[in-house]
Amino acid sequence: MQTQYNTVGVAGAGAMGRGIAQIAAQAGSRVRLYDTQPEAVQRAIADLGAQWDRLLEKGRMDAEAVAACKQRLHAAASLQDLADCRLVVEAVVERLDVKKALFAELEGIVAADAVLATNTSSLSVTAIAAGLKHPQRFAGYHFFNPVPLMKVVEVIAGLKTDAAVCEGLTAYARQMGHTPVQAGDTPGFIVNHAGRGYNTEALRIVGEGVADFATIDRILRDQVGFKLGPFELMDLTGLDVSHPVMESIYRQY
Ligand SMILES: NC(=O)c1ccc[n+]([C@@H]2O[C@H](COP(=O)([O-])OP(=O)(O)OC[C@H]3O[C@@H](n4cnc5c(N)ncnc54)[C@H](O)[C@@H]3O)[C@@H](O)[C@H]2O)c1
Repeated sequence: MQTQYNTVGVAGAGAMGRGIAQIAAQAGSRVRLYDTQPEAVQRAIADLGAQWDRLLEKGRMDAEAVAACKQRLHAAASLQDLADCRLVVEAVVERLDVKKALFAELEGIVAADAVLATNTSSLSVTAIAAGLKHPQRFAGYHFFNPVPLMKVVEVIAGLKTDAAVCEGLTAYARQMGHTPVQAGDTPGFIVNHAGRGYNTEALRIVGEGVADFATIDRILRDQVGFKLGPFELMDLTGLDVSHPVMESIYRQY
C-alpha cells in the first residue's frame, strides 16, 4: 500500500513521539525520530524494537513486518536530518515558545509543500502557526497516550490551514489504523475539553475532602467503567505533562 507520506519526521522522542513513530512505521512510512536529547532517541528506538519483538511473540505481527518496521525507523541527529520528510509531527514539551521556535526552524529545512503538524494537547494551533511563512500547511494532529492503543486522533485546522492538509492527515490516520476526528481549534479541542470533567473535577473532590485518591479511582474504574481512574490516568500521563495542559486550558477560557 502506498502511504500518504513516504517519509515522516517525528520531533520529540518521549511518550508520544515514540508512539507516533511506531504507528507511522507500521503504516509503511520511513520514520526519522529527532530529540534534543540524543539518548531519548536511542532509548525510544530500543524500546520500539522490544515492543515489535513482543508483538511478534504474541503473533500480532509476522517476522517480515517486524524486520521492515525496524528498518524503517531512523535516528535523526539534528533537525536538518528531517529535510526529506513529507510530514513532520511535533511532540515536544507543551510550551508555545518552544513549539513556535521549532517550527520556524523546520520551515527552513523541509520542502515548501511538506506538511507540519503539532501534537499539542491544549495550545492554539493558530497561535503555533502564527509567524510561519506557510501557515496553510500546518495543522494539529492530536494523539492520545498510549498512541498504538488509543485509536483516535483529532485533526485540527488552524485559521489558515489548507483543507487539503487536513484531508491528507485524515487519510494517513486511517492508514495508521486510527480513527480521525475533525476538531475545532478551541482550548483542549474535544477530548481534553471533555476531560476537564474528569481530572480537574477529581482534583476538586480531593481538595474539598470528599474522598481520597484511591477511592475516587476505584469508583470511576470499577463502578463507572473507565479503564483508569483519574489519578491513575494522571500518573500514566505524568504530572509534568498534565499540569501545563490544565493551566493552558484554564487560561484560555
Ligand atoms: N503524554 C500524554 O498523555 C499526551 C497526550 C497527548 C498529547 N501530548 C502532548 O504531546 C507533547 C509531548 O508530550 P510527551 O508526553 O511525549 O512528553 P515527554 O516529556 O515524554 O517527551 C517530550 C520530549 O521532547 C523532547 N524535547 C523538548 N524540547 C525539544 C525540542 N525543542 N526539539 C526536540 N525535542 C525536544 C524532550 O527531550 C523529550 O524527550 C506535548 O505537547 C503534550 O502536551 C501528551
